[in-house]
Amino acid sequence: MSTRPRPGPAADHVRPRLTLPDLAAMKQAGDRIVMVTAYDFPSALAAEEAGVDVVLVGDSAAMTVLGLDSTVPVTVDEMLVLTRAARRGLHAPLLVGDLPFGSYEVSDEQAVATALRFVKEGGCDAVKLEGGSAVPLARAAAIVAAGIPVMGHVGLTPQTATALGGFRAQGRTAAAARRVAEEARALQEVGCFSVVLEAVPAEVAAAICPSLDLVTIGIGAGPATDGQVLVLHDLLGWGSGGSARFVRRYADLHRQAVAALTAFAADVRDGSYPAPEHCYGIDPAEMEAFRSTLE
Ligand code: KIV
Repeated sequence: MSTRPRPGPAADHVRPRLTLPDLAAMKQAGDRIVMVTAYDFPSALAAEEAGVDVVLVGDSAAMTVLGLDSTVPVTVDEMLVLTRAARRGLHAPLLVGDLPFGSYEVSDEQAVATALRFVKEGGCDAVKLEGGSAVPLARAAAIVAAGIPVMGHVGLTPQTATALGGFRAQGRTAAAARRVAEEARALQEVGCFSVVLEAVPAEVAAAICPSLDLVTIGIGAGPATDGQVLVLHDLLGWGSGGSARFVRRYADLHRQAVAALTAFAADVRDGSYPAPEHCYGIDPAEMEAFRSTLE
């Protein structure tokens, strides 16, 4: 474990913290909004340094970080560990915490209590929840009424993917596209500041977005949304997940990590690591005195 001091982003930050009015102003100005997921301190530091606008501690962590088969089993406590770590690496980006499945559906009270934990314990600026039907709408309204900004999520909603027929694009018939449009509008009406549109045809998103006042963020929804989000591990090629049609890979960290670990293993096995420059020294007289204590 490295013992080097690791200053957080506050040490030399230059960007001011992004606020909700800033985000709305970016939409008005037509400045495209950059959002990415992050789940720990180093990934948050990288997002901070890269100038990302919004960081989501997504429940995709269930799959990308925890190795689960879906987002369904991840718990609030697990999400909060990751959220706190990400918070420590961030200064300027807006931090959004993803409410996991089962943590907000039961009642408005449950939803508000969970959202408060993400703000108080996780340091989030806002929370996200999935769906635009009656229950998520009521929960979003309750959380907004409690003073916590909410980002909605429509189209493909992974927490309820089973009910949607699996991980597949949504809104591909006139009726289904209408439902996506209505859900996005309803989330706006209950006070959400933003909505994620996931895996809907680009033309459908382009038809829906111009009439929405809230900030639209797309993932597999084409270029017409106000911003784009990708899952960090997908864009970095980090981990074993196969990627969806909409992912563009900007790195192959998995391959690089395997190559680095393979080289480390070879160096350990042939004795070329550690080399003299990796070793600490001791004054020869001290060493001699030490040796005599061994005898
Ligand atoms: O959990 C997540 O990473 C998400 C994004 C795909 C928006 O919800």
